[in-house]
Formats: sequence, C-alpha cells, structure tokens
Amino acid sequence: MDAHQFLVNSSLQFIEKASFTWQTPSNIALVKYWGKSEPQIPKNASISFTLNNCHTITTIEFKKIEKSDSVQFDMFFEGKKNEDFKPKIAKFFQRIAAYCPYIFEYKMIIHSQNSFPHSSGIASSASGLSAIAMCLTSLEQQLIPALNSDFVTKKASFLARLGSGSASRSIEGPLVVWGNHPEIEGSSDLFGVPFPHTIHSIFENYQDVILLVDKGEKQVSSTVGHELMYNHPFSENRFQQANENLTKLSKILQNGDIKNFINLVESEALTLHAMMLTSNPYFILMKPNTLEIIQKIWKYRSENQSNICFTLDAGANVHVLFPENEKQNVLQFIENELANFCHKNEYICDSVGFGAKKLENIKVK
Ligand code: DP6
Repeated sequence: MDAHQFLVNSSLQFIEKASFTWQTPSNIALVKYWGKSEPQIPKNASISFTLNNCHTITTIEFKKIEKSDSVQFDMFFEGKKNEDFKPKIAKFFQRIAAYCPYIFEYKMIIHSQNSFPHSSGIASSASGLSAIAMCLTSLEQQLIPALNSDFVTKKASFLARLGSGSASRSIEGPLVVWGNHPEIEGSSDLFGVPFPHTIHSIFENYQDVILLVDKGEKQVSSTVGHELMYNHPFSENRFQQANENLTKLSKILQNGDIKNFINLVESEALTLHAMMLTSNPYFILMKPNTLEIIQKIWKYRSENQSNICFTLDAGANVHVLFPENEKQNVLQFIENELANFCHKNEYICDSVGFGAKKLENIKVK
C-alpha cells in the first residue's frame, strides 16, 4: 500500500454537522523508534504494548462552513481554551490536508482531556493525536458511507503517524508494529498493524506501572532527539539492531521466553538513552532516581526469582513491566521501595489494552 491509497477519490456527501468522541490510549515501545526521515518515515520498525488506563478522550464537533483556505479550529483542553497545543495541531492538519480535504469544509471544535496528569512526563502526543485521527476518520466514514472499517482503521493510524510517529501505534492493541519489517506480515512504514501472531499466555494482560520520576518539561523534545540521529556515529548500526531485535522479540512473544524478553527490552531502553548520550549535542534525560530505580529492580529480580523488568521512553520516568501473576508482590515492592524515588511518591498502574474506543453519547466539554 502506498500513501496514494489514502487520498480521497470518492465524492463526499456533506452533512451539516456531526460530533464524535474517541478514547485512545498511550503506548509503550519495547523495540524503540528513534530516527526518522520525511514525512514521518521511521528508520527502523518498532513494536509497543498498547496501554489501557493512560488515555486521551477527545470530542470533535464539526460544523459545515463555506470551503476555507485555512483550517478553522478551536482547541479546548480539560475545559479551557488552549492556545499552547494549537501550533502542533495546526501543523498536523497541514500534513494531513491532502488526505483529508474535508477539513477545509468544517469548523472543528476540539475538546480533549487526559486520564493522566498533563505534566506527568507521559507522552500525550500518541494518545492525543490518535484521538483526533479517529474523530476525523469517523467523519470521513459518514461522508463516504462505502468505506470499509479495515481501511478506516489503517487510515486513522496513517493520519496519526503524520502527527507523531508513535501515535500510529495507539489505534489498536495489544501489540502493534509500525515500520516495514520483512518478518512481520502486513507491516508498513505508513501505519501501525497489530502483531500478527498469537502471543504466549505469559504476555497476556501484561502489567506496566509507570513511575513518575520527573514531572518537568523535557529539556530535549523527541523531535530534536530524532533529528540528532542524522550524522550520529552509531545510527546505521542502531537501525539494523532494532530490526534484528524485532525479529527476536517476535519469536519471544510467541514462545514465552521471558528471560530473553527481559534482556531484550531492558537493552532497548538503555540503547535508546545511549543514543542520546552519544549524539552531538549530547543530552541526558534520565535522572539520578531513574538509575536508583533500575538498580532496585535488578536487585529485586535476582533476590526473588522475579520476571520484573523496566523500560524507558524519552524521559526520566520508568515503566515497570511484569506478568500478571506477579502483580500482588510487585505492587507491594513498588509501594515499599520504589515510590519514594517518584515525584510526590506518584505512580500509575496500567496494563496492556486493546486500542481506540468510540464513546457513544459522551461529549468532552
Ligand atoms: C522514545 O513519536 O514522540 O517514545 O514522531 O517526532 O512525534 P515524533 O516522535 P515520537 O517519538 C517517540 C520515541 C520513543 C520511542 C517509541 O515510542 O518508539
């Protein structure tokens, strides 16, 4: 499939107004996306667990207007008009304009809220942009009733990707691959696809507790971090390694080899941060408490024959991953030994989820 498939060729049956509400989750990558080329094409394939509790809920109200040259929208976040998010969303609309010509025919009022605190350091772009993409494709489906739902799901992921790469992995679940990979059937650089194999029962309902180590603004955004992979001395090896890791992880997810899962997932997290440490300009997003927590996790794992492990995204927070059958013990360990390394002792208990949900009869205000 190439991007042309997502252009609108059918005639549109315009309606006067419509409103859609979608809940879309955040996700946590196991094999990381770090490095891209225009337009939002990843340098390697990545895979993530879709989360369940960390999500955005967005309502978009569409009102038909005379066709306009610019996209007309207002953005409200948690009940208040928000100008800060507008530039990112305006850029997103520009990028998707060729694929969604109907956005020039409607005034859009966007109301959005997150289930997690905005300043928690949890990336809200994946859930936020995938929610907008779902609302847009819902409108498209009304304007072109013949569209089939498989195409609509792919297009939503395609649009979300143009807003933020990782957002392409927030439409479906429980595991989504984004990026063309020879061993993952149907995989594409253009959109995320569900992991195509049956996963071993040990990975079902996997748990992710997000330790909120640092709630401040990141000193270096993901966008800048991706750019620093150009002219990076290790980038080519890194892209190759990530693709090889996805081959390995695909087998692990099917055969339940949890020891190798732990090794691969932690290595991916540390390699992501190693890319930051070895770029120029170099930067460090981990905090002292990130390292304290990692050491504690390793100690707990060896002393308790546990299968707990960690991963990191582009920030200081630690995602603690473990099988559901260890939930009781690990939650106690986190409360007793890790919570005090978190900002105000805060952490979020989450688990693997199944992707975007349409909410009928609900409107975010
Ligand atoms: C470290 O998707 O936030 O979380 O495409 O520039 O919006 P943009 O970047 P973004 O990068 C996410 C990077 C990561 C790894 C991952 O989620 O795969």
